[in-house]
Formats: sequence, C-alpha cells, structure tokens
Amino acid sequence: MSVNQRNQRIGFKFDFIIIFYIKVWGILKIMSINMLMEIETRKLFDRLPKNRVGEADVRYVYELMEKGFSNSDKSGIVGRFEEAFARKYGVDYAISFNSGTATMHACLMAAGIGPGDEVIIPALTMASTAFVVLQCYAVPVFADVTPDTLTIDVEDIKRKITPFTKAIIPVSIYGLSPDMDAIMKIAKEYGLVVIEDNAQCYLGYYKDRLVGTIGHAASFSFQGSKHMTTSGEGGMVITNDEAYAAKIRKAGVLGYSAIGARPGSTCIPRDVRQDWEFKRHDGFGYNYRMPSICAALGLGQLERLDDLVAARQAIAALYDDIVASCEWLIPQLVPQGYIHSYFAYTCRLDTELVDFDFRAFRSKFIELGGDGLYGAWCPVHLEPVFKNMNFFGNAMRAPNFHELYKGKVRSYQEGDCPVLEKIQPTLFQFKTGYTSWEKALEQAEVLKRTIEAFNKQTATILQLNVKNACNC
Ligand SMILES: Cc1ncc(COP(=O)(O)O)c(C=O)c1O
Repeated sequence: MSVNQRNQRIGFKFDFIIIFYIKVWGILKIMSINMLMEIETRKLFDRLPKNRVGEADVRYVYELMEKGFSNSDKSGIVGRFEEAFARKYGVDYAISFNSGTATMHACLMAAGIGPGDEVIIPALTMASTAFVVLQCYAVPVFADVTPDTLTIDVEDIKRKITPFTKAIIPVSIYGLSPDMDAIMKIAKEYGLVVIEDNAQCYLGYYKDRLVGTIGHAASFSFQGSKHMTTSGEGGMVITNDEAYAAKIRKAGVLGYSAIGARPGSTCIPRDVRQDWEFKRHDGFGYNYRMPSICAALGLGQLERLDDLVAARQAIAALYDDIVASCEWLIPQLVPQGYIHSYFAYTCRLDTELVDFDFRAFRSKFIELGGDGLYGAWCPVHLEPVFKNMNFFGNAMRAPNFHELYKGKVRSYQEGDCPVLEKIQPTLFQFKTGYTSWEKALEQAEVLKRTIEAFNKQTATILQLNVKNACNC
C-alpha cells in the first residue's frame, strides 16, 4: 500500500468517525429536546384542572358569593373580566355578552346593518354567523372557502361584493385566521365593516398580529366546547374604536342612554336613574348581558388561557406527526407566519387515493378505541332553513324579499359555494380539547392504528387492481 493510499484510508476513517459522532450527537440532541418537550408538555397538562374548573375560577366565584347579589354588580367582576380580557389582547375595549351569537348581532346592529343590506360570510361556519345577519333583517351572502386553509376565499368575496354589501364576517375556522390583510384591503376599498368571528380562535396569530386585533371588532365565544368557557355560554367583543364600542355595548344592554364603552359600564349612576324625568332608552337593544357568575369563571379561565391554548396545540402536534406520513389525509394548511390555535385538528380525505369515506373511517376509529370524530358542518346555505328560506314564517317574509332590498340574492342552493360543497363530506375533525395528556396520547395512537388499518386495505385493493389488470 502506498503512502498516499494509507493516508487516504486514514482520512476516510477519520471522516467516518467525525460523521458518526456528529450523527450520534444529533440523535442525542433530538432525543434530549424531545424528552424536554415531553416533560414540559406533561407539566402543562398537570397544571390543567381535569374538570376545567380551576382554583382561580372557584376563588372568583366564592368572592362573588360572599359579596352577594343586588341590582348592580357589587363585586365589579364583569368589568374586571372585561378589563383583563382587553389587556390580554392589548386593545382598548372588551364588552362581555351572554353568547358568541349575541356578540356578532350587537356588532352588526352597532354598524347600522339592516333591511336592504348584504353581509358576506363564509359558508363553512356555525349557523350563528349567518343567523345574526338575519336577526338584523339583512341578507347573508355566502362566500366559498379555499380547499387548503378552509377559510373564506378572498377571490370569492370580491366576486360577491355588490353595492349593497355593508359588512364581512370572516371566521377563524377551527382556530386558523383567514387572510386578514387581503380582507381589510377589500373592506377599505369598499367601505365595509369587518367583524372577526373568532369563536374558535384564542391567541392565534396572523403574521405578527393577534387574531382578533385586525378587524373593526372581533367576537369570541365562551360556549362549553371552546378553549375557555364561562360555564357553557358567554361571549366577548373587542375593539379599539371607542364610538363603535359604545354602540356595541348599547345594542347588548337594551339601548340604555347612560351606557358607555368602558368596562363594567352597564350600570346607570343612581342620581340619574332614580330621577322621574330620566329617559332611559335613546337606542334600541337586546338584553345580552353576561351574568356576573359567568364573568367570575371567565376571569379565572383567562388566567390560564395560554396553557389552555398550548394544550390544544400540543395535541394537534401529536396528530400532525401521525398524519404527516399518511398519503391520503391532508391537514388544514397553516400558511407561513400564521399560528393556529387548534379548536379542532382538521384534515381532508383525498378521495382520489382511497375507496372509503368519512363514515367508514369514523367507524374504524371508534372500533379501535377512538373518542368520536366529527364531520364538518353542512355548508350553511344548504341547511334546510336556508334552502327553504324559512326564517320568519314563510319565504316571502325573508329579508331577501324586503322592499328595501335591491340585490339579487333570492335563494340559497347547491352551486353557490362549489369548493366547500365538494370537500365538506371529506373533512375530519379530531378533538383537541382533552385535559389529560394520557388520553391525548391514547387518541393519537388510535388515529395511527386507524390509518394503518386503511393503509393495509388500500394496499390490498391496489394489489388486487394490479392483479386484475395483469389477468386481463
Ligand atoms: C364559528 C362560530 N361562530 C359562532 C359561534 C356562536 O357562539 P355561541 O355558541 O357562543 O353563541 C360558534 C360557537 O359554537 C362558532 O363555532
């Protein structure tokens, strides 16, 4: 062996040892990062109260009980909750409501939406988003969604704008923000009000902004399935616009004249309200106030909101790891710079690659120990109430036939939002709201086994197909 050959061999060995150590070091590093993450995740879940009622929630409720009830909120707890919520989002005003539906209705009323107006909303949402438009006796106009993000399709918004459009309600579906820059640009161009429906999105980010701080106002729901709850029902609106905030509050508090935008300003000063000459109502409104006991719970829940969101994100990450190696499940696309808050983890079944459907997958998932699996809501425009336009007794009494309405939306039918109509039966929503990490790990394992079972089945079918093709 020549000197050169020997040196080459030594060099080769040396390279090999270096590469080996780098690889081992890399593996150890990944292992230790994973272990640290696992420890942190376990700590996170250990902090979460298993029944969703924490020590702080109980403390605030107890404080309220000790003070007792009267005509006014002696503890000021509603105002404290509003102030704390506004601080969390870094906005000037937060106004509490008794539901996320009431919030949006009040926002539309405060924006002056009424007969003759159109409001654009995505067809993939909870019916409430559309109902609040009808509650203003205005016309809901449904925009399609994009098949990857599942959020409202900006191009379809543009197509559906008319001289009668007055507002847009973009929805952060499953916890993911729509393309808010594009929506705000359209809104500016056409002078539209934007009310973000963030019932399903807490502490999500759109680029570098908190979802909820971009539109003219944003609505949140504290209904029982949401990241945080105020005992099953509740809602909050946030905005930076003082005049708009005051109108929103008024719309939810029976139009009382002495009501302002500030937190807790739901009580009229005694000297004013006790005077015989006092005229109480200079506006029209509903009684949508949040009960103080709900605010007490909300104040407690808000203190651990970061944990509540992080827990759902951790569970979504488990599913994501599994779905990443599955060819036929396509997770909801999270565009660069967005942070998803994962109210639910949603995937689309690529029906071109498989010969089974949602129902077969769901049955198998449950058979293997899965805790249920939701399909997506029916596109709202195809719900019977919209197809029959059965809003106020009979179709002819719908806002679409009001004498002030000059637009063209006279019916709701198949073909209005073709993208959603096609993909809706193929959407799978996995639950992210577990308060136990063990339960989440178990569910992720069931998902893995369900995918494996269908992978085998799909492979057998492919083999059979190939065999049949050869026999021919
Ligand atoms: C997207 C969306 N919008 C609106 C709502 C209505 O909120 P609430 O049930 O608090 O009235 C919900 C709640 O389920 C929702 O998921």
